[in-house]
Amino acid sequence: MPIKWDSRLSVGNVHIDIEHRLIIALINALEAVLRHPEEKDSLKFFIDQLYEFAVEHFRHEEKLQLRFMFPHYEENKKGHQQLMAELDNIKNIIYVFVEKPDSTKAEAKATSEKVNDLIRNWFIGHIVKSDMKMKGLMDNAG
Ligand SMILES: [Fe+2]
Repeated sequence: MPIKWDSRLSVGNVHIDIEHRLIIALINALEAVLRHPEEKDSLKFFIDQLYEFAVEHFRHEEKLQLRFMFPHYEENKKGHQQLMAELDNIKNIIYVFVEKPDSTKAEAKATSEKVNDLIRNWFIGHIVKSDMKMKGLMDNAG
């Protein structure tokens, strides 16, 4: 089941909300490709896109948080580092799978299930547990 964005996920800033929607779209694309793990080039493409965009997104959030003197800035920054370490781990799992020339269907299934699980926890950890604290602080500043 793809992740769906709804207003409960809004942090009250249109720019950040759009970036979160893009993250959801990339996660959904990655999960869809994981159902066809023989599509190894696409797997690599989507995890790379997600990783690169997450770096950019966290940088943008931290910049806004500094500007609006977000009281949880330091804690959130550490959270972002932790999330990047987790995403790094997910990326490694996918790369190991992609680079193995003779992976079996069972390995493909196990990789797919593991990544789906980790990536959803990653997403919830990011938006729900961390970014929601920003709600009401920065309105629609860009
Ligand atoms: Fe975020």
